[in-house]
Amino acid sequence: MKKGLTSTLLLGISLFAADYSSVIESPNASKIIEKDLLAPAKVFTMPDGCITTDPKAIARGKYIFHNLNGEDSKGPLPEGLSQVDEKGKPKQYGNCVACHNIEEAKGAGNIGPDLTKYHENMMATKVRDNQFVYQKISDARIDNPTTHMTINQTTGLFTPREICDIASYIVSPK
Ligand code: HEC
Repeated sequence: MKKGLTSTLLLGISLFAADYSSVIESPNASKIIEKDLLAPAKVFTMPDGCITTDPKAIARGKYIFHNLNGEDSKGPLPEGLSQVDEKGKPKQYGNCVACHNIEEAKGAGNIGPDLTKYHENMMATKVRDNQFVYQKISDARIDNPTTHMTINQTTGLFTPREICDIASYIVSPK
């Protein structure tokens, strides 16, 4: 009786564990995931003349920080900022206020640190320097491997010029 029960169970298990791989379509999921994986963290050296007091660069940086600068952008784009990338595709990036508060921010998020008074608190005190801010926006993982911040230059979301614009805005006195 006991033996009968055991073999019934075994039969059940083997039926359950039958190999259906030939009938089920099974794409190699690791290949699909690979495409979505981030490239490894990368060091970026700030180009010469990157951080500037040029009001036009700061205006572009401010715009990107407070807006999505793609199709959903609000208000007129500042001079020198494009709504499309080199391939003509609409850009959907920016919107740093989703995570950071800063001067004049509307409805800012608090996932990232408050960047209000950044010039006074972080730059004038030399807690941070321009290269730090440039690297942070380019690829925050170099400074913090478990960061929740978006990765911008390694992913190609931003060009070096755009990162310089945003960095110029952050470090400028407001
Ligand atoms: C998804 C949320 C998120 C978004 C979007 C985001 N950040 Fe961050 N950011 C963070 C977090 C979290 C930190 C703190 C951890 C770290 O330093 O990596 C941070 C840190 C920073 C710092 C470092 C501040 C300091 O001195 O310690 C700067 C500068 C910064 N972010 C700028 C930006 C800019 C510019 C953008 C838009 C291009 C942006 N962030 C978008 C989450 C975000």
